[in-house]
Amino acid sequence: NNYASVNQDDCISCGACNSAAPDIFDLDNSGIAGVIYEGDSNRGVTAIAADLQEELQEAYDNCPTQCIQLAAAPFA
Ligand code: F3S
Repeated sequence: NNYASVNQDDCISCGACNSAAPDIFDLDNSGIAGVIYEGDSNRGVTAIAADLQEELQEAYDNCPTQCIQLAAAPFA
């Protein structure tokens, strides 16, 4: 699962994803998280590097609303 995107409707701005994986997730000015990795802009189309998989999984596991989506193929 190398692709990630946040279902932003369900994000409650807890920040756990950014704590676990600051290179992949950040919160915008409204406090809503998105994938910022290599300019992905939460589109879920940028393959995340192998050495970040562990923190990606940690972010996924720690999100309280399970709004981080992972996939083996690009989202769009
Ligand atoms: Fe939002 Fe989940 Fe991150 S609630 S701030 S996407 S850990």
